[in-house]
Amino acid sequence: MITIEKKATIDDYIKQCKTESDEPLCAYFYNLDLLEEHAKTIKQSLPVFCRLYYAVKANPEKEILKTLEPIVDGFDVASQGEMEKIKSISNKPMLFGGPGKKKKELEAAMDSNVELVNVESFHDLYRMEELAKLQQIKLPVLIRVNLSENVSESHIRMSGVPSQFGVDERDIPQLITEALQSDHVEIRGFHFHAMSNNLDAEAHLHFVESCIQKSLRWKEEYQLNTPIIDIGGGIGINYWDPASPFDWAHFTDGMHRLNEAYSKEDLTLFLEIGRYMAAECGTYVSEVLDVKKNHGKNYAVLRGGSHHLRLPAAWKISHPFQVYSIDEWNEPFSRPGIEGENVTIAGELCTPNDVLVRDEFVESVRARDVILFHYAGAYGWTISHHDFLSHPHPQQVFVKNGEYM
Ligand SMILES: Cc1ncc(COP(=O)(O)O)c(C=O)c1O
Repeated sequence: MITIEKKATIDDYIKQCKTESDEPLCAYFYNLDLLEEHAKTIKQSLPVFCRLYYAVKANPEKEILKTLEPIVDGFDVASQGEMEKIKSISNKPMLFGGPGKKKKELEAAMDSNVELVNVESFHDLYRMEELAKLQQIKLPVLIRVNLSENVSESHIRMSGVPSQFGVDERDIPQLITEALQSDHVEIRGFHFHAMSNNLDAEAHLHFVESCIQKSLRWKEEYQLNTPIIDIGGGIGINYWDPASPFDWAHFTDGMHRLNEAYSKEDLTLFLEIGRYMAAECGTYVSEVLDVKKNHGKNYAVLRGGSHHLRLPAAWKISHPFQVYSIDEWNEPFSRPGIEGENVTIAGELCTPNDVLVRDEFVESVRARDVILFHYAGAYGWTISHHDFLSHPHPQQVFVKNGEYM
């Protein structure tokens, strides 16, 4: 899918660190050239009825946002903090959503470049109506729907199941009716973000078409203007088998077919992509401090762990990794290591939950080798509990045009 060689620059970085310092290596390494290329590919492959928003929550680092800014149509933000981050680098529009909006956040959204706000409950609607009335504006909103039926096999679902997100589809008629009576809230469409890490392109297309059909039905029934249809994000990364990724080409072929099939409707579909956009450009790099056997199982212990990359511990998966061998060993004692065996790769925290790789085969791993955790650019550093045990934070390294920023 992505052709830029990413190992070369990480290679240089690791070699440089190992010659210049005795400190065990620990860093997030971002290849912004890869990110730029990937974002352009995503944007160019979508049909004209799509608008591409970046879901800031996946990775809000300024360098990531600045790299994406010229390519995307706007940003999906979930807090005032994210709004401020976008305002500091862009004038592009924002969509603001989240289940627990504060008054200050809604006011900030009304004062900022926020194009649309998600209504996630009746209470949300009443609060927005009141605030918009005070400001004497008509607030454009999307109604976030929690669909009645199951939408995918993804293991994290926000829709089609009971959740804190959106309005139950069965209550949507009532919500539309009330919103239509409002003088200060204007329904501009529907928001359907429903799942996380979906790997099935066909299922995603099926989901998109069902969002289109439902939106058109509500449009007809309630005489709405042509609704914006926000299908959210949820496109997955195959952490279990990166060689079999989400079939983006199949998905976009299907999106082009939908564009043609519904061309008379003059639809606009919003995508809010986070994980699929940012995951691949980031690598978490962490040095092995120790290798040992315990109760018959091999463990490699890192200078780092789930306080930097929480995702594999949260999902109880093995994160895709690669052992980067460092041959030099100058200590006066023997070097612990294993060859051709399974290993569990754990972090430096005092908890057995601090595990990034569970019982996976390695050709070799020794103390002082470095582990590269690929696909760590989304929901990596920012979702992790950085300060547990007060270890120093990893270095954050950004490379653009092959040069450090
Ligand atoms: C409303 C909304 N939109 C978009 C996203 C981004 O999803 P993903 O990172 O799976 O693309 C999320 C993620 O939680 C979300 O809550």
